[in-house]
Amino acid sequence: MSSLKTIGIIGAGQMGCGIAHVSAMAGYKVHIYDLAQDRIESGLATINGNLARQVASGKMTDEERKAALGRITGSNDLNDLAQVDLAIEAATEDESVKRKIYAQVCPVLKPEAILATNTSSLSITRLASATDRPERFMGIHFMNPVPVMKLVELVRGIATEESTFSAAKAYVTSLEKTITVAEDFPAFIVNRILLPMINEAIYTLYEGVGTVDAIDTAMKLGANHPMGPLQLADFIGLDTCLSIMQVLHDGLADSKYRPCPLLVKYVEAGWLGRKSGRGFYDYRGEVPVPTR
Ligand code: CAA
Repeated sequence: MSSLKTIGIIGAGQMGCGIAHVSAMAGYKVHIYDLAQDRIESGLATINGNLARQVASGKMTDEERKAALGRITGSNDLNDLAQVDLAIEAATEDESVKRKIYAQVCPVLKPEAILATNTSSLSITRLASATDRPERFMGIHFMNPVPVMKLVELVRGIATEESTFSAAKAYVTSLEKTITVAEDFPAFIVNRILLPMINEAIYTLYEGVGTVDAIDTAMKLGANHPMGPLQLADFIGLDTCLSIMQVLHDGLADSKYRPCPLLVKYVEAGWLGRKSGRGFYDYRGEVPVPTR
């Protein structure tokens, strides 16, 4: 374990719950904050289900599952974050939402606490400037599904102090994840490369080069990707995919990052992928069915 003992997670979505899961497994006390109590309850149920999968596949014992779950609490009271050594914001990929959260959370946190963001694309330096602690602020970017994916990107803002970076590094190392360090440019490393590939797959669909099934089969069997790009887009969330493309397009001002109009249309329809029941696939039946 690192010198940090208690981790606060802001946002009980799929990323927040995944980070809570791996932190509790590594022995940290974890507190999940979310505005909505029902999101916290369904998040805790998801964590329990994912821990149970790991018990079933022999990766941990049932006692370890119970102990990890026992280290996680959740509430919709911001004041419960007052004791945490590290708070990780895992809210929606929307800068105005994140700024509002920082304005509310910073006065509650201990002055020495580190505040990190799990943003997948936004400028760490700009987000840091919306906090009272730019020197104790940085990006700790986990991949989905957090319990399975081995990589975490660490991103310093212009003001991040070395002590903040080394504390984050020790924390991530204690989770048995591999670290990659990225500079603070739009979408960092993984999403700078991955999202244009996904966007291109959506253009391939939009232009009628192939069906959903053809595109995903091509990339799974032709490039050995564990999931097809459209299946992966649904898994990440189409709203998140669109936000990341917009950050790349705005931040790098290059037309090669233009979000595909079909992606925009799906998001406007509220077809956000797995989490909303429909995206490039329809998940409402027994098996996912391509929507085009
Ligand atoms: N929690 C715990 N364990 C999980 C899990 C979860 N949420 N999801 C899957 N697993 C485990 C399963 O229990 C299984 O374990 P065993 O091998 O021990 O049985 C293992 O992972 C494989 O799962 P499945 O057999 O169910 O399915 P699979 O073989 O198809 O693998 C997958 C699922 C790991 C998700 C795989 O399809 C994959 O790697 N997909 C690509 C994921 C990816 O690219 N993620 C990055 C997205 S980009 C990102 O996150 C950055 C961003 O900011 C947008």
